[in-house]
Amino acid sequence: MNILLTGASGQLGQELLPQLQQLGEVILVDRDTLPGGQRILQQDLGDLNQVEILLNRLTPDVIVNAAAYTAVDQAEEDSIPAFRINAELPGCLARWAKRNGRFLMHYSTDYVFSGDGKVPYVEQDPTGPLGVYGESKLAGEWAIGSSGCRHFILRTSWVYSAHGSNFVLTMLRLASERPSLSIVSDQVGCPTWARNLAGVSREVISQLLSTGPGDDRQGIFHYCDRTAVTWYDFAHAIFSTALEAGLLQRLPEMTAVPTTDFPQKAERPLYSVLDTSAIQNTFGIEPAGLHESLKDCLKDINKA
Ligand SMILES: NC(=O)c1ccc[n+]([C@@H]2O[C@H](COP(=O)([O-])OP(=O)(O)OC[C@H]3O[C@@H](n4cnc5c(N)ncnc54)[C@H](OP(=O)(O)O)[C@@H]3O)[C@@H](O)[C@H]2O)c1
Repeated sequence: MNILLTGASGQLGQELLPQLQQLGEVILVDRDTLPGGQRILQQDLGDLNQVEILLNRLTPDVIVNAAAYTAVDQAEEDSIPAFRINAELPGCLARWAKRNGRFLMHYSTDYVFSGDGKVPYVEQDPTGPLGVYGESKLAGEWAIGSSGCRHFILRTSWVYSAHGSNFVLTMLRLASERPSLSIVSDQVGCPTWARNLAGVSREVISQLLSTGPGDDRQGIFHYCDRTAVTWYDFAHAIFSTALEAGLLQRLPEMTAVPTTDFPQKAERPLYSVLDTSAIQNTFGIEPAGLHESLKDCLKDINKA
């Protein structure tokens, strides 16, 4: 089996590669080269004509689209590239998959919700994105759904890994630079280690490809790790785990502050916990906990 992986140098893309290699031959696509010098097809995925040409040349059996425009605040001023990558690209991949009878795996976000809920969001809950990033990701979901291709969309939240730009790496950097930190304590979500999400992706693809096109388990599913926390709690967990792992010499002083103390261009949902019952019941997947995942991720960071 021949798998096309886009966004190969991103947080999730880098974790997907070893998982997908267990299923078949993986062709990597991104704008950039990868650390470690793996062979990669360098392609700006915003050029949809070139994407179509690439697909016709490679004819992948499976497309795993981990490419995304993820700069949430920048998207408020840059809506055209955000919609190009988050909505038009998935639409283009999906239409090609439909015409050629191929399978598309794609990722979406908790930011499709408004965050005024009080209990975990299920897949069928009404959406209501607060900013351009969420709107563009929602448009990507619609583009795939309306194409009629065989697809699977994993909505996830608060992704972190040893690479790229994420809350864990930012907190570790700030804790080494400053004696005290103010952290938002009124937004609640589920931090998700990119490696767990990549493992779930492999499991889903493997189950769906072994049963074939008659298997109707498709559409939107939620996966996030199982521990719901505020950013403040998450930071506390990062610092105490890092202290244990010898990555920090001392705990910084922490002050809990409201979101309003950190004005940002894009508004964030205050509550974006995703209910993962559907993927658990349909695919037998058990979400991982925060503490063991953080510990393993910090080991990776330590090695790097
Ligand atoms: N990060 C989160 O907290 C979070 C939360 C919920 C859902 N998600 C979703 O999870 C998925 C993976 O996110 P992630 O955190 O792995 O994102 P990421 O680290 O920002 O990676 C995105 C990848 O897409 C590539 N890309 C963007 N624009 C491109 C273009 N025009 N041409 C070619 N490649 C392009 C990026 O390459 P460059 O480095 O060259 O830009 C990067 O490799 C996305 O669908 C995202 O929306 C993420």
